[in-house]
Amino acid sequence: MAIVALLAGGIFAVAKSSSNSSDDKSGHSSDSTSPAQQPTEATTTAQSGEVAVGISDFKYSPQALVVKKGSTVTWTNQDDVGHDITSDSDSEKRGLASPLLSKGQTFSHTFSEVGTYAYHCKPHPYMTASVQVVE
Ligand code: CO
Repeated sequence: MAIVALLAGGIFAVAKSSSNSSDDKSGHSSDSTSPAQQPTEATTTAQSGEVAVGISDFKYSPQALVVKKGSTVTWTNQDDVGHDITSDSDSEKRGLASPLLSKGQTFSHTFSEVGTYAYHCKPHPYMTASVQVVE
């Protein structure tokens, strides 16, 4: 999606520069592909609301997810093999502990506390990923 946005932005920039450069901006205010101003400190954009993580080919995708506090992450298993979502640590931080998901099944968790939640798949401990929750 980032590539599409960049492409659209590039096309837009070319189109704009080849037309009247003194054109006012009001006509473009609804341009949702424009990246606008990103906070300079953000290396990864935090997602918010309903965020999807796919499980396919024995991998979580995205593997390193950043979401805002209060977001609900839904994992969907797309493999024929069963996978789950299990916190690496069973510390005081409310752990992720999904049932074994068969193909097409989902598991959702709402993250209400800031922190980094590392998790893995119990049947396949080499499947690892994390959710970083930010303000
Ligand atoms: Co697995």
